[in-house]
Formats: sequence, structure tokens, C-alpha cells
Amino acid sequence: MRRSNQALVDRPAPTPSSAGTPHRPAAPPPLPDYLRDTYTWAYLSDFGTRFFDHQLVVNTILWGNARRLIRWACSALRPGQTVLQPAAVYGSFSRDVAATLGPQGQLTVCDVAPVQVALTTRKVADLSTVTVGLHDASQPHGEAFDAIVCFFLLHEVPDPVKTAIVDALLASVKPGGSVIFVDYHQTAPWHPLRPVMAGVFRFLEPFAQALCRRDIRDYASNPQQAEWRKETRFGGLYQRVIATRPPT
Ligand SMILES: C[S@@+](CC[C@H](N)C(=O)[O-])C[C@H]1O[C@@H](n2cnc3c(N)ncnc32)[C@H](O)[C@@H]1O
Repeated sequence: MRRSNQALVDRPAPTPSSAGTPHRPAAPPPLPDYLRDTYTWAYLSDFGTRFFDHQLVVNTILWGNARRLIRWACSALRPGQTVLQPAAVYGSFSRDVAATLGPQGQLTVCDVAPVQVALTTRKVADLSTVTVGLHDASQPHGEAFDAIVCFFLLHEVPDPVKTAIVDALLASVKPGGSVIFVDYHQTAPWHPLRPVMAGVFRFLEPFAQALCRRDIRDYASNPQQAEWRKETRFGGLYQRVIATRPPT
């Protein structure tokens, strides 16, 4: 079923169902404390939403690797799939994912912050295969997707929320489907950016260092429910972890 790109906010309560039925939150989820306390400057403020939502800025923050990282994430997807993106991403990411899925694919983009839902809705306004909704990624979605692409979300949440998100995403993918995580990773000891990233994490991204010390697999409450594949790139600065549920 083709869905439109309207924001799914303030609609009736969700009922768990197969892919193709839009997610309908009963009530808007509350803004998590960590988001308000740590990331207002980046995701909730007028300045942040105006300044950061440009591919040039995203590329600078990712040390010129934005396109490669997006390609890395998209290369694990196939045309025609139903895909969940559980948090908004600045720049062109959602449009790139939608292009990968093609006209038969369906992309559902969610975020816990209404301002990010509004921003993403505007960015994909011309794409009929994309739906944007308000949802907290730490809660199961209520739909089952062919794949889920979680791009640089885990490093921005406290450890208990990392576990809740990994569990919720694994619960929201169909048997045989995959959850694709692309995020920061511990750099090799020789990496020239190692001290720089340590400073960035210390002063701006307080939940990121933990992700560099621990495998994403180890955040799952029940890791044996999936097969895990981890790769790193750029001297270990970034990781892609694919958790695939066995087909039933
Ligand atoms: C995907 S992350 C970081 C992406 C990357 N740094 C970028 O360029 O945008 C940023 C988004 O995650 C959202 N977010 C944080 N916690 C969330 C949660 N529990 N559920 C859904 N979205 C969440 C924030 O509102 C924000 O829009």
C-alpha cells in the first residue's frame, strides 16, 4: 500500500499490524530528559535546526565521510523493501534511503521530537513513498519492517536507552529482516583523530564513549535472537553492525 508523506501525529492509538499500516501513536511521546538536557542546541533549538540541516554541515561533522557512510548504510537495503528509520537525520539521508528503496519501497521515518518530525516532513514533501511520524525509538513500533536503518542514534542516548532501542528495533523487524546500525566506534590507537574525537565526546556527546567501549550486540537483552555482523571503517572511527533475525 502506498502511503503519503504526511506526519502521523495525534492520530488514534496503534494496533500491532503488518507493514503497510501507518504507525499511529496514541499520544505524543514525551521528550526524553537526555535529549532536552544534552542536545537542545543540536536538535530542538531554532539555531540547531537551521544550522545543522545541510549536507555540507553533516559532511563536515563526519570528516568528509557523509556520502560514504550513507552509501554504506544503503548498501544493506534492497529496492522494494519496507524500511524504518527510527530517528531523523540532518541532510539528505532520508531522501537517499528512499531513492535506494525505489518506487515500490516504503520508508517510515520517525523521531521523538515534533520539531524534527516537522523538518523531515518538509524535506520529503515530494516523496510519496515516505511517511514521517512521531515515535520514541525505545518503544516497539507496532509494525514489522523488512529492514531498519539506525544512523548515528545510539551514541546520543544513555546506556539504558541504548538497550531499549536495540531491543525495540529487533522487535520491529520481520523474521529474516535486518537492523542496520551505523555509528561511531573506537578508533585505532594510531588514529590522528583519536584525541579530537575524545574531546568532542567529552564535551558535546557524553553518551558516545560508552558505545566505543562496548559492542552494539552486547546492548541487546537477547542477542541470540539475531545473527550479528560488525565491520569498521576509517581506522575504526565508524562501525556498521547488521543484526539479522533468522527466517521462521
Ligand atoms: C539520529 S540522531 C543523530 C543523527 C546525526 N547526528 C545527524 O546528522 O542528524 C538525531 C535525532 O535523534 C532523535 N532522537 C533522540 N532520541 C530519540 C528516541 N528515543 N527516539 C526517536 N528519536 C530520537 C533526535 O530528536 C534527533 O532528531
